[in-house]
Amino acid sequence: MKSSTAIAHPNFALIKYWGKSNISGNIPAMSSLAITLNTMTSETTVSFPNNLEQDTWILNGVEQTSLGQIQSPCDYLKKISLINQPYLIESTNNFPTAAGLASSASGIASLVTALDSALETKLSSQQMVEVAILGSGSAARSLFSGFVHLEVIEDNLKCATILEADEWPLNVIVCVTSTNRKTISSRQGMEISKTTSPIYKDWVNNHQEDIKLAIQAIEAKNFHQLGKIAEQNCLKMHKVMKTSQPPIDYWNPATYACVKNVKDMQKKGIPVFFTIDAGPQVKIICEPDVSKDVMSVMENLPGLKSIIKSNLGRGARIIHE
Ligand code: PMV
Repeated sequence: MKSSTAIAHPNFALIKYWGKSNISGNIPAMSSLAITLNTMTSETTVSFPNNLEQDTWILNGVEQTSLGQIQSPCDYLKKISLINQPYLIESTNNFPTAAGLASSASGIASLVTALDSALETKLSSQQMVEVAILGSGSAARSLFSGFVHLEVIEDNLKCATILEADEWPLNVIVCVTSTNRKTISSRQGMEISKTTSPIYKDWVNNHQEDIKLAIQAIEAKNFHQLGKIAEQNCLKMHKVMKTSQPPIDYWNPATYACVKNVKDMQKKGIPVFFTIDAGPQVKIICEPDVSKDVMSVMENLPGLKSIIKSNLGRGARIIHE
């Protein structure tokens, strides 16, 4: 039996999903559109040690008491594989886990890629999307490079790159405002919002228009239009969160300070925009020629834990087997 190692990077949604239409299949209630990075790496190795009695998952050096979020994708692959031996999954993230930096997306994308190879299941690209979604609604996007559209029509999923990273090489500056694990997981938060936010229905119903405008902006490489719709969509999602009961508020004072800095830069004509996911981190997207200036503005901001600069990059891939 061979061991396999895969890597994947986080992806950040510019048009986000927040809410599930089907809990058991973990199906997002709406489409989403994201960019895959080329830094911040999740690496997963699947192997078959001789003395292993049951499937085991070690995350960042710590043996997990259960397979948790990766149980469903593991079950799916195991069912169709001819290999029936317990496996060891060793995953590491070289950046904070479960802190709003999309570690579950990159982690699960690397996991399903490594498992598919080790278990010799030879999944099609469509099957990989479906398996990744079982683990995390955003994970399928990290299988793909550049600008990625995850289209959801009822229970049917389609995921694809709509523009390659080198066709529009934007930069992403990740402002880490806290490295703590988030107190409410995305999965829990989405259910709370779906059942309690008075604006959840509008959020779902008006979502497709945002997707359409963002795709147009990407196709035309229109930075201003993309930034405008991405910021609006992000703020709408956080409004849905904040109007939930209990309210879900991932922002901290440094999050607000980062957003203010981005708005100030925009007023000076600098091509930047921000997006924020289920966590307090601010992701700033900019044209490469201003990234140095943006970095130096942000480096002077008190309260930031770290700043990570990234380009857009490749999808999940095997690095060793
Ligand atoms: O699929 P999850 O559980 O990683 O949740 C993703 C939620 C957001 O990051 C807020 C939105 C998105 O589309 O990535």
